[in-house]
Amino acid sequence: DLLTFSVIKADVGGYVGHSNVHPELLETARKQTAEAISSGLLIDAYVTNCGDDLQLIMTHRHGVDNSEVHQFAWDTFVACTETAKSLKLYGAGQDLLSDTFAGNITGMGPGVAEMEFEERPSEPVIVFMADKTSPGAWNLPLFNIYANPFNSPGLVIDTKMHQGFEFEVMDVIDHKSIRFVCPEEMYEMLMFIGAPRRYMIKHVYRRMDGMIAASASTQRLSLIAGKYVGKDDPVLVTRCQSGLPAVGETLEPFTFAHTAEGWMRGSHHGPLMPCSFEDATPSRFDGPPRVIAAGFQVAEGKLIGARDMFADPAFDRARAQANEVADYLRRHGPFEPHRLGLDEMEYTTMPQLMEKFKDRWVDESE
Ligand code: F6R
Ligand code: MG
Ligand code: MG
Repeated sequence: DLLTFSVIKADVGGYVGHSNVHPELLETARKQTAEAISSGLLIDAYVTNCGDDLQLIMTHRHGVDNSEVHQFAWDTFVACTETAKSLKLYGAGQDLLSDTFAGNITGMGPGVAEMEFEERPSEPVIVFMADKTSPGAWNLPLFNIYANPFNSPGLVIDTKMHQGFEFEVMDVIDHKSIRFVCPEEMYEMLMFIGAPRRYMIKHVYRRMDGMIAASASTQRLSLIAGKYVGKDDPVLVTRCQSGLPAVGETLEPFTFAHTAEGWMRGSHHGPLMPCSFEDATPSRFDGPPRVIAAGFQVAEGKLIGARDMFADPAFDRARAQANEVADYLRRHGPFEPHRLGLDEMEYTTMPQLMEKFKDRWVDESE
């Protein structure tokens, strides 16, 4: 039977501010997943957090977009919201944009990355989870993992990877998607994915046989609600080894603390800092943006893990680089390009200012 790997996440309350998830929420979620495992809905589950985002990592046999699994995740977030409300945690229930569940959690606030596959004789999977940034933050590392031979020598020397990978890219403004094949269409694809606010990689497939390799969440909360409601902190599921990028090739792009949007008030550029589970507590200027990597060996659907993949001194330099870039960008204060452009910010006072000063503008066109 095919296995479904589902990661569904939401920010249902922060501790303190937007910096972490309170242990009682994790406890509530773990109780719920234990019940779903004993009822047979799920095979296994691993509950964790990255910053203020509660993460449900689940395996089951019901396929992607399954209404029972999504309903379960929704109900779990609702239960955790109750816990968050009782502790008056910050922004309790902030990502639950609707009062009632409508069958599919996509577009309702929580982030979702799912894939269905036949479990291989050994199935290493890495789940990346980020906070204080947006799904476009995966474009650069995904390109490096699956299309850049300087990152992934497997593209050159592994016969199963040599034909390259196919990328499904979403246009999150016009709600459509397109597939590009690499290496042939690499330059064309870069024109799109180099604009990660609009074009986001959703899935990656191995061309040799169409095997699914990666699945990312592409929710953009601010667009869903038409106004600022929360950060669309993304998740990404990747399968590794035996004809797919190795674990080390999959982690390697994160040795570069590349610039992503998010950070304070979802309105700044900042470096994406790879960190251990323990350090996924963005506090400085509500950041800088964090990414953690949870490694699993999947065995008949059981999640063997998680291994904390960035708890490795080999990522210390990326963390140091992130701190240096954070210092550099912070010196810009409210100036671009630290602050996002006007139409990109999640909060802005511009409409009120335009109204306030509408009679003070002097026409200079004559
Ligand atoms: C939220 C985030 C934070 C908040 C900031 C202001 O994920 O990134 O930077 O935007 O703490 O929050 P409010 O407006 O709730 O006071
Ligand atoms: Mg929050
Ligand atoms: Mg968050």
